[in-house]
Amino acid sequence: MKILVTGAAGMLGRAILEEFDGAGHCVGVDLPDGDLAERGTALELMMRHAPQHVIHAAAYTDVDRAEADPARARAVNADATRMLARCCTSLNLPFTYISTDYVFDGEDPAGYFEDAERRPLGVYGTTKADGEQEVQTAGGDWRIVRTSWLFGPGPKNFVLTVRRLLEERPTLKVVADQTGCPTYAPDLARVLRLILLAKGRGIFHATNAGATTWHEFAREIARRSGADPERILPCATADYPTPARRPACSILRSRNLESIGVGPRPSWQEALGRYIAWLAQDEATQPGVPT
Ligand SMILES: NC(=O)c1ccc[n+]([C@@H]2O[C@H](COP(=O)([O-])OP(=O)(O)OC[C@H]3O[C@@H](n4cnc5c(N)ncnc54)[C@H](OP(=O)(O)O)[C@@H]3O)[C@@H](O)[C@H]2O)c1
Repeated sequence: MKILVTGAAGMLGRAILEEFDGAGHCVGVDLPDGDLAERGTALELMMRHAPQHVIHAAAYTDVDRAEADPARARAVNADATRMLARCCTSLNLPFTYISTDYVFDGEDPAGYFEDAERRPLGVYGTTKADGEQEVQTAGGDWRIVRTSWLFGPGPKNFVLTVRRLLEERPTLKVVADQTGCPTYAPDLARVLRLILLAKGRGIFHATNAGATTWHEFAREIARRSGADPERILPCATADYPTPARRPACSILRSRNLESIGVGPRPSWQEALGRYIAWLAQDEATQPGVPT
């Protein structure tokens, strides 16, 4: 099956390409191949690559910058998604849209199943939620796969930031009142493959198992990196205002993966251990995405 992956240069995109390498013919595209927010790009890419499935991972992902740039965020996250989804529907092709826990307001401490009502707080969440609605409206053979708190190979992520700050400062403060599910991009790519193999349709919540706060996540990063976790101090979201409001508790709970036979996902701690072990290797002798 020839799969077109948008956002292929991003953190998830590169993990998807690695996961599907050998399992089928995968074509990755990113901004230099065409701006998906421009009318005509989606169709042009579809014609050029003639895929049999599209995984749409490209997005305007800078949550804070989106607050000052809502038109661009909407064009990328909602309008481009509509154009790609419509192309797939008219060509009778399956379409998979990657979405986010930020479509929820985070008010429910129990977390959110797949059918929970979307109530985004900021521009990023709103435009991704609108992207989801566009996929559903386009109809056809679609999947929306929501994930959260991604980390993995790539130039920047929370794990790398914490490790860098631990080298630069004696202590650091990390918010302790936001809860979510850290997710290792290669593990998510593997779940995506399982969803496609099972021909799953509808909305899925795909994260590593377990939930935590950014503060506890940072402490675990320190611990597994050989630093004293006590150097990570808790603080409140209110102490560090950001342009975008973030959900306080965006735990993604899953029923639909189980219903198509996808087994339990590894815990986020175990996944973090694999990533940190990979980081410890000489990347020059171990290119690519780890297992
Ligand atoms: N990262 C997370 O914690 C997280 C959490 C939940 C859900 N998600 C979702 O997961 C997906 C992948 O996220 P990620 O972290 O891998 O994102 P990422 O690293 O920012 O990658 C997204 C890619 O899309 C490209 N892109 C942006 N605008 C585009 C456009 N108009 N046309 C074509 N390509 C464009 C970006 O290029 P530039 O970098 O050049 O702009 C980038 O290479 C996204 O749909 C995101 O909403 C991510």
